[in-house]
Amino acid sequence: MVKIALLGFGTIGSSLARIISEDGMRRREQLKQNPNSKSSISDALAQVKIVAIDTLEVEDVKKKLQEPEYAGIKDALVTDSFDETLATNPDIVVELIGGVEPAKSFISKALSRRIHIVTANKAVLGVAGEELRNLAVTNNVELLYEAAVGGAVPIVRAIRHSLMGDKILSIEGVLNGTTNFILDKMTSEGMDYSDALRQAQELGFAEADPTSDVEGLDPAAKISILASLAFGRDLSMNDVKTEGITAITQGMIISAKSDHLVYKLVAKAVRHGCSDGNDNIELSVAPMLVPEKSAFGELTGSMNAVEVVSEYSTKLTFFGPGAGGDPTASAVLADIIEIVSKRFVD
Ligand code: HSE
Repeated sequence: MVKIALLGFGTIGSSLARIISEDGMRRREQLKQNPNSKSSISDALAQVKIVAIDTLEVEDVKKKLQEPEYAGIKDALVTDSFDETLATNPDIVVELIGGVEPAKSFISKALSRRIHIVTANKAVLGVAGEELRNLAVTNNVELLYEAAVGGAVPIVRAIRHSLMGDKILSIEGVLNGTTNFILDKMTSEGMDYSDALRQAQELGFAEADPTSDVEGLDPAAKISILASLAFGRDLSMNDVKTEGITAITQGMIISAKSDHLVYKLVAKAVRHGCSDGNDNIELSVAPMLVPEKSAFGELTGSMNAVEVVSEYSTKLTFFGPGAGGDPTASAVLADIIEIVSKRFVD
């Protein structure tokens, strides 16, 4: 068994726990009946066990674990103490609490103890990505973060693996579901900014403090993560020139609509070649007018899209659900399965 400790039981954490519980149990059952059976559920999932859940809502989570969808993990320790969590000797810590602290201290402590990390936390990577990546390398453990950018959209893995033989020239993306949802509702339904933001919060897209969504800090962290991978540089969200959507009015939206244009909050990372070989990287987040009929213009709700321009594959476009419990949990699970397959299967 590969032991998992889960930090956080919010929108993503509870989805992940349910999927591991249900799919893990199903696959173990199938393998018990027929060890040679084939399944679309990864066999790595059958080896995973959630041994601890670290949450501030201890009593609520304990109660939740008694519900049928969590039957496969009902015996997990539920605690609000990170030390008690580590005392269960997890192989992988999955950090889903978000924000910089205490997430950074927890991740650092786990990495120093040679525990692999999977995180969906763009804020901590946007601020301290370099330090944490170095710590993982020093301790020879994995630090994976597919879910930190684009929710279910597999853009991190595409840059890490699929495009490793190419030279990426630019990345442009609508990387924040909350602002896309707000702008979409204001455009298509004439909804008020504050009503649209409230709906995004109710649907679980917005950050605990939605300022980081609407002021563009969330997509700034995300583009710095993609740019660090794509250009092999240590870039942080402080390197991103950032502007949010709070200055966009209903009047501006209506006037753009008459020209068949829509506002989108676009994050960009552009490599400018220099003759000395030291390319300049320009990072920005800002509202942009784009044609209604275009990859970015047609994004509705909390969808994200990313366009990657590279020397050989020219232009690739990725799009899909950029936020929400199950879609983001799917990306977290892919990282867990990658670690199990790479580090725990002979
Ligand atoms: N608040 C983020 C968003 C969540 O709206 O995109 C997913 O990273």
